[in-house]
Amino acid sequence: MSRSEIPVASSIASVRDFIAAARQSGKSIGLVPTMGALHEGHAELVRRCRSECSFVVVSIFVNPTQFGPKEDLAKYPRSPEADHELCQANGADVIFEPSPAEMYPTGGLATFVEVPGLSDVLEGASRPGHFRGVATVVAKLLNIVQPDVAAFGRKDYQQLCVIRRMVTDLDLPVRILPVPIVRDADGLAMSSRNRYLNAQERVAATVLSKSLHRAVAAARGGERSADRIRQILAETIESEHMAKLDYAEVADSETLTPLDQLPTTSGAVALIAARVGPARLIDNVVLPA
Ligand code: PAF
Repeated sequence: MSRSEIPVASSIASVRDFIAAARQSGKSIGLVPTMGALHEGHAELVRRCRSECSFVVVSIFVNPTQFGPKEDLAKYPRSPEADHELCQANGADVIFEPSPAEMYPTGGLATFVEVPGLSDVLEGASRPGHFRGVATVVAKLLNIVQPDVAAFGRKDYQQLCVIRRMVTDLDLPVRILPVPIVRDADGLAMSSRNRYLNAQERVAATVLSKSLHRAVAAARGGERSADRIRQILAETIESEHMAKLDYAEVADSETLTPLDQLPTTSGAVALIAARVGPARLIDNVVLPA
């Protein structure tokens, strides 16, 4: 039993009933897809979505198909009580919290959504199959909820690109609302995986945002060589002995194609991934033109 009063629908039929009633009373529908272990970054997603829609559904589903066989599915943090309270406190109207059996009744799917190219680089190269799992479950959630607006954090920048492309390519009738990254006071981007860090690792993890600050400062100072920016990112992260760099990339902000030079108009993004202790962390920043 949840201590909060927000309704929790665990079946597709019941969340659709809530949504049909909201539509009947003229409300616009927003969706915030999450995997739970909610934090201030998610709270911001809910608030932004609520400011644009009169009825907000938060889905909480740790989607098994986006985890690789050696990834942290079994250990992924779960905090249902606190999640429900956060949703209620930030203006959500209903939580959709299905079981894996509700989402994948036959144990798996025969139909998948794939966004090749965008899905194969960066996170996709390190986590094969990840974006197929993400795109497919997001397509299912969009079909279940049929929202006017769906909110996604810029923290998962590549995920946002993949979902936007899927929505465009499949003419899905939804507006994607990108929400800025929420950072702790020391610059660390909020992430459910930050819970894996001990106090020392937590301090070491701030090297990710430091490297992005240095990249932005270099771009502001007139540096146009993408290789030099990559080098600044990599050297900064490697200067922290507890951080193990996975990638440091400077890419086109829509296609994610690696750049040689920063464009003179906007359109470049710096993306990084590193392992700190048990956590694999990602971060990014749009570079100034
Ligand atoms: O960003 C996440 O939490 C997940 O990838 C999402 C979009 C909820 C799909 O499972």
